[in-house]
Amino acid sequence: MKIQELNLRNYRNYDKASVRFEPGMNLILGNNAQGKTNLLESLVYLSLTRSFRINEDEKLIRDGCEYAMLECTADNQRLKIILHPKGKSLFLNKIPIRKSSEFIGKLNVVLFTPDDLGIFQDSPRERRKVINQEITKISSRYLTELNQYMNLLKDRNLLLKREKPDEVYLDTLDEKMIELSGTIIEQRKKFIAKINEVIDEEFRGLSGMQEKIEVRYESCVKENTKEDLAEMYRNSRRRDLETHVTGNGIHREDMTFLMNGENVIYCASQGQKRMIILAFKLALMRYIEEMTGQKAVVLLDDVFSELDAEKQKRLIQRIRNTEQCIITAAGIPSFLKSENTAIYLVNDGEIRRAGAEYE
Ligand SMILES: Nc1ncnc2c1ncn2[C@@H]1O[C@H](COP(=O)(O)OP(=O)(O)OP(=O)(O)O)[C@@H](O)[C@H]1O
Ligand SMILES: [Mg+2]
Repeated sequence: MKIQELNLRNYRNYDKASVRFEPGMNLILGNNAQGKTNLLESLVYLSLTRSFRINEDEKLIRDGCEYAMLECTADNQRLKIILHPKGKSLFLNKIPIRKSSEFIGKLNVVLFTPDDLGIFQDSPRERRKVINQEITKISSRYLTELNQYMNLLKDRNLLLKREKPDEVYLDTLDEKMIELSGTIIEQRKKFIAKINEVIDEEFRGLSGMQEKIEVRYESCVKENTKEDLAEMYRNSRRRDLETHVTGNGIHREDMTFLMNGENVIYCASQGQKRMIILAFKLALMRYIEEMTGQKAVVLLDDVFSELDAEKQKRLIQRIRNTEQCIITAAGIPSFLKSENTAIYLVNDGEIRRAGAEYE
């Protein structure tokens, strides 16, 4: 997959920006606070219809402006999003799209950022978000079912807040939630299994270390069967009625990163953690390619500054065979000098293709 063009209007610190990207390596150079991450963020937004940095979309609209527009062409599809204070409008090839599940997955990117390191310490909610986002990229059905489940969960929690909840209605909700949980768990299981097929190999390739890396799916049930799910709901019923909230279910699931069988938090060095998250991202790229038949566009935000020269070289060798990479940095990484790279300069919300001075 390749992004041909990106246009922004009133997005973050960009007034008007228009960039044509090249296949292969694209390097965005700029000092701190000039708009490098903002630009990658806009591409992720076009992919997932949400920012990877904040939840409040209003903050994405340039200060003092009424709306923001993000638009890109990728493999001859035109994706456009308009953000306004009341929400957002999505367009695919100029046609308005009502459901985000029909928009997500048209542009697939995998972002590498130094903030990824937070995944180990973050709350389960953040790791769940990663699982959900990645599966959504390859299956719109998954998002539809997840949304249905979340709506039922809302109803169930509202019911539990009542003084005397109608237990017959509770049974009906449980039944529907059990059904949806079954297919959601199945897809999550498959996702984790796919990651585990390759994460170890990616880790060894990048780090040269022999540690065994895996991701453990922390499911709400032992076996994904109707009986196990029904039992879980039965067992939590009393407590849910007392606490007035649904305490167990797929909305509480998690994943744990393991190194030699132990939680990465307790045993991996900072450098190992960095390698594990990079390996996870590389495994995500393979997952997307296998499931969609298309290579995701690779976005690297300031990642090289954190790696030693050897690891930088290994990472670039590993991603060189993707169709397109968009990389941000403060200066040209030395190993990129020998690559055929399109260079762009960002300065105070303005971006332009670098001239001969960089060739
Ligand atoms: N809604 C907004 N309106 C105007 N400016 C904004 C808005 N949101 C963010 N900015 C500004 O955008 C600037 C650039 O941010 P960005 O994160 O892209 O920098 P960067 O080039 O990635 O820098 P660094 O190298 O430090 O990571 C920041 O100074 C920030 O204040
Ligand atoms: Mg940045």
